[in-house]
Amino acid sequence: MRTLAKLFFAAAAFAAVACSSPYTDAPIRSLEVWPDQDGVHINAHGGGILYYDNTFYWFGEHKGERSNNALVGVTCYSSKDLVNWTNEGVALSVEEDPASEITRGSIMERPKVIYNKATGKFVMWFHLELRGQGYNAARSGIAISDNVTGPYKYLGSTRGNPGIYPVNMTQQEIDEMNALNREDYPQSWTPEWVEAVKKGLLFKQDFQAGQMSRDQTLYVDDDGKAYHIYSAEDNLTLNIAELTDDYTAHSGRYARIIPAGHNEAPAIFKKDGVYWMITSGCTGWDPNAARMFSATDIFGPWTQHPNPCTGEDADLTYHGQSTFILPVPGKKDAFIFMADNWRPRNPIDGRYIWLPILFKDDGTPYLEFLPEWNIKDQWK
Ligand code: DGJ
Repeated sequence: MRTLAKLFFAAAAFAAVACSSPYTDAPIRSLEVWPDQDGVHINAHGGGILYYDNTFYWFGEHKGERSNNALVGVTCYSSKDLVNWTNEGVALSVEEDPASEITRGSIMERPKVIYNKATGKFVMWFHLELRGQGYNAARSGIAISDNVTGPYKYLGSTRGNPGIYPVNMTQQEIDEMNALNREDYPQSWTPEWVEAVKKGLLFKQDFQAGQMSRDQTLYVDDDGKAYHIYSAEDNLTLNIAELTDDYTAHSGRYARIIPAGHNEAPAIFKKDGVYWMITSGCTGWDPNAARMFSATDIFGPWTQHPNPCTGEDADLTYHGQSTFILPVPGKKDAFIFMADNWRPRNPIDGRYIWLPILFKDDGTPYLEFLPEWNIKDQWK
């Protein structure tokens, strides 16, 4: 009798959990128009998702019809099931003051938001370029809010860890780097130049002002420490920088990784104690082949693996560029690879590619293009 009762309660508990799952068999169709609650295509490009209070919040770049510049700001959409999205409006608005760093016409790309449990604040980092300066400023903007959907208050911008050496450079490597001179390498992309970049030729020039910070993402580790991962050194080298406890600044601990690897669009997840990072090459708005790296320590060393994409258009990341990897709450070993299909001639029409991350028998992640799939059936 007791066993029967136990079985009954176990079955009831299972049924309750199964019923409470927000995921349905509603299809995720990459590269198509994704209407929000008003039937308007979602305008949240280069985005990332924060799961907070049983709700998904998708933050991204608002794009216009002709311009990739920030004319509106960072948008926010919410969803319970990752398929039906409600436009929550502008989370961080451009400012009208022409002296503001985030004035209308600046560039605000790849925003990511994380929640700081200790301060109760939502913290946004994004790639910031100052108006009229192309991509030369190469800065990170930081904004915070008490409410997940905003409005976010702009705190200011920074470059990467000015005047601080990375944790993964020995004194001997620092001395070798300091002995490098730009004039000795007048031509880019020669084998000698690549070798010098690996050793820190470009790092050296930005050491005092801080490292460039363009394509970027945020990652909160299991211990609550947060990291900012960004393309530095003219997109030649990635930096992984630990954030301060309140997540609003770099702590001073960071690593230069994959030097001279020329990576953009970093997206990261962790499974079974291994960090996996998917990036792109650097071809502007045009797609290229994704790259994949793994490490057991976030500061490295990072090992390169083959392109995770398989099948048709694998060498073009299915016409997309990575932006974020979302662990699916309530599902074991379930991660969604999120990418942008950019349409620079009509940026507002940019599409999204979301695919389940698949795993080989040896645990290596890979991707297949599924034109249509759903979360409920993908991960039982
Ligand atoms: C590629 C980057 O990944 C995008 O975020 C954007 O900065 C474009 N380059 C601009 O050309």
